[in-house]
Amino acid sequence: MNRATRQQLLEINRAFYEAHADAFDRNRGARPWPGWERLLPVLPADLLDASGRRPLGAVLDIGCGNARFACFLAQSGFAFQYTGVDANPALLAAARRQLAAAAPAGPAELVLHDFLATGAPGDGLPPGPFELVVLMGVLHHVPGADWRLALLRAAAARLSGRGLLALAVWQFEDDPREQRKRVEGPVAAAGTGAGIAIDPEALEPGDAFLRFGDDPSAPPRYCHSVRDAELEAWPAALGLDCIGEFRADGARGIANRYAVLRRA
Ligand SMILES: C[S@@+](CC[C@H](N)C(=O)[O-])C[C@H]1O[C@@H](n2cnc3c(N)ncnc32)[C@H](O)[C@@H]1O
Repeated sequence: MNRATRQQLLEINRAFYEAHADAFDRNRGARPWPGWERLLPVLPADLLDASGRRPLGAVLDIGCGNARFACFLAQSGFAFQYTGVDANPALLAAARRQLAAAAPAGPAELVLHDFLATGAPGDGLPPGPFELVVLMGVLHHVPGADWRLALLRAAAARLSGRGLLALAVWQFEDDPREQRKRVEGPVAAAGTGAGIAIDPEALEPGDAFLRFGDDPSAPPRYCHSVRDAELEAWPAALGLDCIGEFRADGARGIANRYAVLRRA
């Protein structure tokens, strides 16, 4: 994908989250995705500590949104040091409120950072090492298979020796409800390249523009539905073993494809 198109797509999503952060936070709330329950048995946590919690170590949540994943871990009885990274200030403010309410047993840091803005994707992420790195519903916003892999390499490089990388990858192409929210006409970014419609020829198979919610006038966001072949090539490309793979979430239990990876 060419650089100009990537910049337009990133600008569309930056503007989308700026306009919809509050609605997005309300829509997600503190509700965990059902698939997260299935991650719990494989987390590299130690035995119960004196306070009755399971120490998990350091957790990096890339594209953390309102930090509902950290709240889920806290409510599931883990103690951990949490770092959440997101490019949207309003969602980080929501994350701060959620964390105050959930009171995780461990320090929490929230970092305002766009992991696609400087250098190679993921270059500026906190260095770690982390026992758990997660990307929950984030990779669909990263344009181009090469950038998705580069971001995953950056995530994998931050794992501790026993660390796990857990991914939930949105499969909206399998959801007729989401297909009805596709915007098929020309889409333009508001800021960078304002008024210049995105060249459909520059997009890749699986790329789409989707409205959020049921308002047909709402501006869409850029999303990519990662195909099986790309996803299945990640463990070897990253030098990681896939120790768990399943689908979960949404009305039909298949909205996200999960992968749990660790050092080979
Ligand atoms: C669909 S939301 C998922 C949020 C969270 N992981 C959850 O499960 O609720 C995608 C998140 O990724 C963030 N995001 C997207 N692109 C980003 C980028 N380039 N840098 C940092 N955050 C980004 C958005 O701001 C948003 O909070």
